[in-house]
Amino acid sequence: MNILVTGGAGFIGSHITDALIEAGHKVAVVDNLSSGTKEYINKAAAFYEFDVRDGERLLSLCEEEQFDAVFHEAAQTQVPYSQTYPQIDADENIMGLLSVLESARKTGVKRVVFSSSAAVYGDNPNVPLREDAPVAPTSFYGLSKVVSEQYLQMYHKVFGLEYIILRYANVYGERQGIHGEGGVVYVFSTALAAGKKLTVFGDGEQSRDFVYVKDVAQANLAALQGDVRPGIYNIGTTVETTVNALKEILFYLSGVTTAVYYDDVRNGDIIRSALDNCKAKAQLHWRPHTKLIPGLTSTYAYFAEEASRE
Ligand SMILES: NC(=O)c1ccc[n+]([C@@H]2O[C@H](COP(=O)([O-])OP(=O)(O)OC[C@H]3O[C@@H](n4cnc5c(N)ncnc54)[C@H](O)[C@@H]3O)[C@@H](O)[C@H]2O)c1
Repeated sequence: MNILVTGGAGFIGSHITDALIEAGHKVAVVDNLSSGTKEYINKAAAFYEFDVRDGERLLSLCEEEQFDAVFHEAAQTQVPYSQTYPQIDADENIMGLLSVLESARKTGVKRVVFSSSAAVYGDNPNVPLREDAPVAPTSFYGLSKVVSEQYLQMYHKVFGLEYIILRYANVYGERQGIHGEGGVVYVFSTALAAGKKLTVFGDGEQSRDFVYVKDVAQANLAALQGDVRPGIYNIGTTVETTVNALKEILFYLSGVTTAVYYDDVRNGDIIRSALDNCKAKAQLHWRPHTKLIPGLTSTYAYFAEEASRE
């Protein structure tokens, strides 16, 4: 298939691009490099550096290429930033998606795969959450994902554009940067590799569902299967890990123990988070293959190697 990946220079988008190319697809990446890294883009992909909100440019690329599918990863991904700049967050995330949807429907794209987030559920303690749990975001970022999901559903209703919404849990792995939602693995790993103290927001007993980036890339690939019905799919492990437990695991894996500073809870942060993945298992035929310890082992090795080169 001929595929467009927006945000393909970013953490998750670059892994999706790799997985698509490995599976034999032709891939084009559109990225404005606002948080992405050019070197992460697979050499076999065509790269176009521009903002997805540039509707004219995006439409002409889609007309030329006649993409079969679009993976939309380009976004503003930081919860705290969205709390300070809700308008910029909405512009990036909602207007960016609309630009992609307009180009997609006008050029006959068959399917749009969208990266949503566990942030749509807000602070619901009844974990692991299923897809039919009520949406109640606690941040503008989460709200932008809820609105985006509704736009995808409306484009399907009005124009027949097929969509697959993947609600990611906290994604971690190689190439993760400070920007990603699952940034705590990146922040702790790079701090430990540099022998610096760790900062924990709150008491550290807040939990997250850490899902490995290569498993997330495979979930995206699974969303291309012809028999997958338009809908919402959680992409997580169902396992809750507290930030304190994560810190202990990383102390162990790195062989480094540093001081820990407990700071105030951050505005918009969720207390418990874990996603039920039964629907993705049954309908996408996907499961997270990578357990936390092996995933963190390779992730920490990656950041330690990066730190040694600096
Ligand atoms: N990392 C996580 O744990 C996580 C969890 C849930 C959902 N998500 C979602 O997954 C997607 C990818 O996130 P990520 O962690 O890889 O973030 P990232 O910041 O690493 O990647 C985003 C990419 O999009 C590009 N980009 C941003 N705005 C753009 C624009 N207007 N035009 C063109 N390119 C633009 C950036 O340069 C970057 O390369 C996002 O939609 C994010 O909301 C991430």
